[in-house]
Order: sequence, then structure tokens, then C-alpha cells
Amino acid sequence: MARQKVTVVGAGHVGATAAQRIVEKQLADVVLVDIVEGLAQGKALDMMQSAATEGFDTQIIGSDNYDQTHNSDVIIVTAGIARKPGMSRDDLVATNAKIVSSVVEQTVALSPNAIYVIVSNPLDAMTFLAWKKSGLPSERVVGMAGVLDSSRYACFIAEEAKCSIKDVRAMVLGGHGDSMVPVPEYSTVNGIPIEQVLDAQTIEKINERTKHGGAEIVKYLKTGSAYYAPSASAVAMAEAILLDSNRLIPACAYMNGEYGLQDVYCGVPVILNKHGVQKIVEIELRDESQRALNESANGVKALCDKILATV
Ligand code: NAI
Ligand code: 2OP
Repeated sequence: MARQKVTVVGAGHVGATAAQRIVEKQLADVVLVDIVEGLAQGKALDMMQSAATEGFDTQIIGSDNYDQTHNSDVIIVTAGIARKPGMSRDDLVATNAKIVSSVVEQTVALSPNAIYVIVSNPLDAMTFLAWKKSGLPSERVVGMAGVLDSSRYACFIAEEAKCSIKDVRAMVLGGHGDSMVPVPEYSTVNGIPIEQVLDAQTIEKINERTKHGGAEIVKYLKTGSAYYAPSASAVAMAEAILLDSNRLIPACAYMNGEYGLQDVYCGVPVILNKHGVQKIVEIELRDESQRALNESANGVKALCDKILATV
């Protein structure tokens, strides 16, 4: 069987690291694209020269145009600018809206069967915009945030519970911003609800730390934002699509009445496979979690309206 193909747009921190993870895991061949001349080509060649040592047969090529992206199975969009200290994800909106629109417009005709995994921020609004610009069914345009935010939550739970991260399952829903919704009622240490493992004050503390998990890293890095956990999260989604594995994970999906939300992209549990978002999984949320989800989705909707008026 021919190897599958992933296009990664944006050869910056998240894009290049995602590309590296994909080829090293031998998930697919990769076309890495960046608008900066030579950047993607240089990084792709460097990665290819690690193949003998790392032992992968997958191929990666870099380009500053889309000619070689045709018939991609998955397109990961990381193009855009990243946050600097003091900036919110929403501050990126005007610049990234133009970039994401142009990326989708240039890729969709060449890869009419691709599933898009959007990473650029502000994530939920960029995913909505990418869907609008693509003309694709909504299940084929999905955003990455819930895997990352849940992974951060899991990291903090393991730290506080002093247990192996391997035993932690954590869930964060809602938009990828300060209004995201950590869901303790569906977060467990090997099936034991975290509320039986940690006290309420500790859970509140890690809920807050999770909501500001991205900003905590921006503050350290000063010149950019996180990319190791984000790239791992985007690749986990690409893997679910490429391997058709029906992962049940939180992802930014188009809501058509689910959770009482309409015509908005928002983080919810989904089944992800080769068709994209096969299904939105509706779970019973506590009143406070549902209220927080509604508020978060309303914030995303307001931002989407603003963007659609400008693009
Ligand atoms: P970066 O600045 O390292 O890389 C972005 C790359 O996009 C640059 O190499 C730039 O030249 C390229 N680019 C800009 N315009 C382009 C265009 N029109 N076509 C192709 N390439 C273009 O930034 P980084 O750290 O890789 O982050 C990328 C984006 O992902 C940012 O918007 C960031 O906020 C977002 N992000 C989202 C996360 C999430 O959870 N959804 C997590 C981490 C980052
Ligand atoms: C993060 O959460 C900046 O959205 C990015 O790290």
C-alpha cells in the first residue's frame, strides 16, 4: 500500500516539530511548506539526514509553494504568528485570519479528499474560518486544542496525585482560551474520579493552571509559545485519522445543536477517524461545566462574527 501523505503548513516551531514526529513515527510522508523561502526546504533536508540514524523510511520534502502537496490525506495548518508575552491568543486574529484563509484556499483544490487539522490561533475561530473557506463538510475540518489542554491537565493531576501519568485520563472542553473548561467529573486516575484523589482546593488550583498553561510557557520562552506538547497533540490527531483508529478525544468540532450549541466550533469529545469527526459524543455534564461550556462557546462565536466581517 502506498504511504499516506501529510502536508504541514508552517515550518516554524509547531509545524517543524510535528513534521519530525510524523516521519520518525513512520506515519506518512510529509510535505512541509512555509512562506519563508528556504526555511521548509532546509528543515526537511536536515530531517531526511537524520533518517539513517533514527531509522525511518518515510520521506519529507520542504517547499515554499503547494505544488507537491496534491492528494494529501491530512493537512495540518500551523502557519501564522505566535503569541509573545502579554498577548492573548485573540490578539493574533487579524494576521492569522488572512494567513489561514490563503493557506486553505491554496490547498483545498489540490487535495480535495484531505482532512484538515487546524492549529493556528485563535484556534476555534481559525478552525471555523478554515471550514468556511474550504467549502468542505464540517467533519473534515477539525481543530487541535483539547488534546493539548487535556494533556496539560493530566500532567498537573499526575504531579499533584504523585502517580504515574500513564494512569491519568483528563478532559478539557470548550474554546482554546482562558475560558476553556477542565472537566473534573470526567478526569480520573485509573478510573478513580480525581475528586476522590485530590482535595477541592488542589483541583481548583490545577484547573486554573491548565487554563493558563499556554501563557505559563510563553512567559518562560519570551519570544514564542509552546510547541513540544502542541506538536505531539496535532500528530496524535493526524495519527487517529491516518490509522482510522476511532480515537475518542476532545477536539474543536462544528456544533450543530450538540450540547445546545449551534453554528460554532468548540472543543467537545469526538470520535476521530479517516472520515474526520465521525461523531460528536454527547456526555452528561454537571450544570457548572455546561454553563462554562456555553460561555466559552459564546466567546468563540463573538470572535467568529468579528472575523467573518473582516475577511
Ligand atoms: P512560528 O512563528 O514558529 O511558526 C509559524 C510559521 O508560519 C513561520 O515559519 C511562518 O513563516 C509561517 N507562515 C506565516 N505565514 C505563512 C503562510 N501564509 N504560508 C505558510 N507559512 C506561513 O509559530 P509556532 O510556534 O509554530 O505556532 C504556530 C501557530 O500555532 C501560532 O498561531 C500559535 O499561536 C499556534 N498554536 C496553537 C496551539 C493550539 O493548541 N491550537 C498550540 C501552539 C501554537
Ligand atoms: C498554547 O496553548 C499558544 O495556544 C498555544 O500553548
